[in-house]
Amino acid sequence: MSIWAKVCRLDEIPRRGSCVVSHQDSRIAVFRAADDQVFALHDVCPHKGGPLSQGIVHGHRVTCPLHGRILDLASGEVCAPDHGCARRYETRVEDGEVFLAL
Ligand code: FES
Repeated sequence: MSIWAKVCRLDEIPRRGSCVVSHQDSRIAVFRAADDQVFALHDVCPHKGGPLSQGIVHGHRVTCPLHGRILDLASGEVCAPDHGCARRYETRVEDGEVFLAL
């Protein structure tokens, strides 16, 4: 069962940027798209472990900073022609606070 955890305020995440949340032994990248939708992925690219939080956010996608694979933020899937998947987390924004299902 997931627990909703408050992780930050929406305005602490730059638009088309991210912040990183530590949870147990992993890092979670919390992204804010230009339209203020929030997404969260394990901060490890499924290709060779690049830090997705340092990637470029465009639309509802992020481009990995290491070799340019593009991931869909909503699903964590790597876009074709590449393949792979980063773990995704459910997010919710309430009264300007961002929650993750952990
Ligand atoms: S590590 Fe992300 S594209 Fe290679």
